[in-house]
Amino acid sequence: MGAFKTLDQADVTGKRVLVRVDFNVPMSDGKVGDATRIAAAARTITEIADKGGRVILLSHFGRPKGRDPKNSLKPVADAASGIIGRPVRFAEDCVGEPAQAAVEAMKPGDILCLENTRFHPEEEKNDSAFVARLAKLGNIWVNDAFSAAHRAHASTEGLGHALPAYAGRAMQAELDALVKALERPERPLAAIVGGAKISTKLDLLGNLLGKVDVLIIGGAMANTFLAAQGKPVGKSLVERDLVATARDIMDKAKTAKREIVLPVDAVVAQKFEAHAPSRVVGVDHVGEADMILDIGPRSIEHVVSVLARVKTLVWNGPFGAFEMEPFDTGTIEVAEAAAELTSAGKLVSVAGGGDTVAALNAAGVTGRLTYVSTAGGAFLEWLEGKALPGVEVLRVK
Ligand code: 3PG
Ligand code: MG
Repeated sequence: MGAFKTLDQADVTGKRVLVRVDFNVPMSDGKVGDATRIAAAARTITEIADKGGRVILLSHFGRPKGRDPKNSLKPVADAASGIIGRPVRFAEDCVGEPAQAAVEAMKPGDILCLENTRFHPEEEKNDSAFVARLAKLGNIWVNDAFSAAHRAHASTEGLGHALPAYAGRAMQAELDALVKALERPERPLAAIVGGAKISTKLDLLGNLLGKVDVLIIGGAMANTFLAAQGKPVGKSLVERDLVATARDIMDKAKTAKREIVLPVDAVVAQKFEAHAPSRVVGVDHVGEADMILDIGPRSIEHVVSVLARVKTLVWNGPFGAFEMEPFDTGTIEVAEAAAELTSAGKLVSVAGGGDTVAALNAAGVTGRLTYVSTAGGAFLEWLEGKALPGVEVLRVK
């Protein structure tokens, strides 16, 4: 793990600074639903502006096929202005005359947001002529978009080869947290991997198995592991075609002397809906008509006892059907325990991935964990052990 160039090494005063942010935020009726990503970028933006740099924001929004007003960044730029507490001007295109004119009108300390980079198909192709058109607008490039760093696009990666490149503060915080959690963790290290399917997390499980001391499996994917142990799982969500894979993962863990933690009891119901009548059963006693919708109290206790004896936790994926009460109990209680241990200075806890953040937000613990990533796909690819192009390009060579 080499070092990264950060804003500490950048001389931004008087410069035109292209800052890649991830303003790909949930919107409804023209309003930002969750502004976490904008708030995360604010520090980089104000720091550069306060040092007398001209801040030129680049971002994608959605997955448009060419120019599409539905995917304009304009409302996001307006919201960003409110969050940052400074004017954010807007240019109707990220390259060419509109961008050029807006950049030329900037004074030191000004902030300008350019229109959605994905309005140009060359963005996703990392087209070198397009990279050059973007690069012409700035003197240096700052990447503050960890959550888009798994994309090798013109504004997320290409610019790093065309201009002096630095990590922004949010990127730096993500990298610090992820390195602390997975590359140089204080041991023992545990991971919680939850969610519905093993099939989408095979690479992740494989990579984590080589790194963690304890692998805690939750969510419906635990059902497939239970099935692999020959337990009855009734009508639970199970990936039958992956039962052998689950068995293989457990064998590998045994050989490598890694501990795998599976549920010992479950909350089962016969209907997949909120407040469906439910009961707690041991995992040997799941009935034919039962669906496992959460881990039971003994499992919660067991997981919490594991967290109490490890020093570092990486968390991706909820335990149960957390979007339906009361099947969010397992996730909430474990999250609460992780937050308490973290607050007491006994645990470094790092969490991320779309559903995970929603679940931890619902549990009300996000502020009390060591770090919660703003990233979905990029966080998963990091856990898979993959190199992220937008991060690699920032390494000191
Ligand atoms: C995200 O929201 O996960 C990032 O902004 C990346 O978006 P993408 O999956 O459309 O590339
Ligand atoms: Mg995505």
